[in-house]
Amino acid sequence: MPFIPEEVIDQIAARADLVEIVLKYVPNLKQAGSRWKGCCPFHQEKTPSFIVNPDSNTYHCFGCGAGGNVFKFIMAIENLDFPGAAQMLARQYNVLIPEPEPYRGGRKNDASEKSDYNLRERLYLLHEKLAAWYASWLKNNPDSKAAAYFRSREIDPVFAQRFQIGAAPDSWDAALQWARQNGFTLEELQAAHLVSESKNNAGNFFDFFRNRLIFPIWNEQGRVVGFSARQIEKEQGGGKYVNSVESPIFKKGRILYGLNFARPDIPKKGSVILCEGQMDVIAMHTAGCTNAVAPQGTAFGDDQAAILHRYTDTVLLATDSDSAGMKAILKDASILLPRGFHLKVVTFPGGKDPDELLHNSGPEAVRKAVEDAADFFEFLFRHASEQHDPNSPDGKVRIAGTLLQYIRLLDNEVARDSYLHWLAGRLGISAENLQIEMKKTESRQVRQPVRQERPQESSEADKPAQGPLPLSMTDPKLKIVLRELLRHLLHNQACVEKAARELPPDDLDEGPVAMAVTIIVQAHLNGNWAHGAAEITRSLAACPLDCSEVFTLLTEEVNPPKSDEIPLRIVEDCMQSIHVIHLKQQIGEIRRELNRLPPGEERTGLVGEFMNLTRELAETGKKRSKET
Ligand code: CTP
Ligand code: MN
Repeated sequence: MPFIPEEVIDQIAARADLVEIVLKYVPNLKQAGSRWKGCCPFHQEKTPSFIVNPDSNTYHCFGCGAGGNVFKFIMAIENLDFPGAAQMLARQYNVLIPEPEPYRGGRKNDASEKSDYNLRERLYLLHEKLAAWYASWLKNNPDSKAAAYFRSREIDPVFAQRFQIGAAPDSWDAALQWARQNGFTLEELQAAHLVSESKNNAGNFFDFFRNRLIFPIWNEQGRVVGFSARQIEKEQGGGKYVNSVESPIFKKGRILYGLNFARPDIPKKGSVILCEGQMDVIAMHTAGCTNAVAPQGTAFGDDQAAILHRYTDTVLLATDSDSAGMKAILKDASILLPRGFHLKVVTFPGGKDPDELLHNSGPEAVRKAVEDAADFFEFLFRHASEQHDPNSPDGKVRIAGTLLQYIRLLDNEVARDSYLHWLAGRLGISAENLQIEMKKTESRQVRQPVRQERPQESSEADKPAQGPLPLSMTDPKLKIVLRELLRHLLHNQACVEKAARELPPDDLDEGPVAMAVTIIVQAHLNGNWAHGAAEITRSLAACPLDCSEVFTLLTEEVNPPKSDEIPLRIVEDCMQSIHVIHLKQQIGEIRRELNRLPPGEERTGLVGEFMNLTRELAETGKKRSKET
């Protein structure tokens, strides 16, 4: 690299100890003779085939073929380019890299690689300094509303400091002014999405985070890469949490909040606790459960699972005790079980989440909740048994149907067999029959048109098909409902907030209206709802379909409602309608399938599913008529 002198690279290579470095990512690395051996962090394995040779300071994996020196290792594991890796190692081993030429902002030039690198470094610095500024602002303004709200949350001062909680002042441009005075350029602030441009007054910029409690977000290496900002007043616009938009240093799907603090303790405790949000992570750490992390501003996904795999194979799911929390548990399980994780579920009697439990019942209760975590399948069995009678034949069919969906995801034959026998015992039936049922679910799942026609990345295609039939967009009633939903999502952020939590967005991607709904929900999740409409216009510009419906909605004049109550109720109604339409579609599909199949064993499972769905439909209908 032209701007890191050769001799400096040699110096880094000489000082950096690959064993020490790898140990941070592969805690189970053990000395074996003159070499070190552990499980490869670049692919999934259970028997170690990853070797580090301290003499040559190189590594090699006999499983996947990965190999190289310290630079290659850091580049691969941290997803950095060469200068980035060199910089990281230099910092760690106190090698001085001569100051690169100052970054001059803006456009890429011939040395675009260099300026990318410089920009990232500048953004790290900006975030680090800004986090410190937010924290000191909170300390120095005890009379502010933010400070009053902060006190009301009763966060242990030691942990408030460790997690560097701060506040953004109630001002349009305090952070902007601060940044400029401290030598940061507008281009840098824009690259970090820390300022927004005024819609009516182009060229005017204002702070992205205003009048909110600020939680800095760290990456695995402990550098601040973004912020999550909580509202301090109920009526405050913009949603409960506003999160940093992705930037060159912030990739949501690869961040786990709290991992920088938790990483040494996860291997020690032998598990990681996966919470829903920042406050939960902080509560857990305060209670001594220092192995807690949370996904940040997005649902837990594959990349995060791969990161956790480097630390442990046991995950304790600690979501809120509500229906969204239950959904999250099932979704997380479908990601984690095929990757070989052992799962447990933490429940919070006497609180809706860890933070509430900590305040209601103290740290001891939180630790006890974690200790008492139930095996995922046991938890699922109990949950299913609350809905169906495990002593009736019909109940047994339904409970088995639910559990088999997850048992079949286990990647290990022994585990699968053990859970089949365990379930057979709980239901008082034979494991052989369960096995037959599971085989049938498998073959049926494969036959279902679960989005297999669309091009998929290979890792996606390798995964077993799962979940219900996707929502078909051809239903004319659905179109009407979606149009109504979109209208409210465009004009009322409280509605998007609701939809974002309850709608399965990946089911909505056919047709312009459905696409627009997905885009606006995504914009909200990215903390950028205000630009959602612009985003929709841009995305649909290239759409070959007739998008006039969406454009009409976008240009519609709407008087702001007096309160959120009615729009929220309409959104609730829309989502229930979508659910009902989806249920009816699935029932229709199974009915067609049943008509097609000859009498025989294969029908039994389908009949069970058919009964579950019709029952759910009837219950939804009852609930709806009660509400209206
Ligand atoms: N979240 C978000 N955007 C929202 C709502 C929630 O990004 N509009 C994320 C936040 O990271 C939040 C997490 O989802 O921490 C969990 O949401 P919720 O349970 O609503 O928040 P709590 O953690 O319970 O926060 P609080 O105790 O402050 O209400
Ligand atoms: Mn919560």
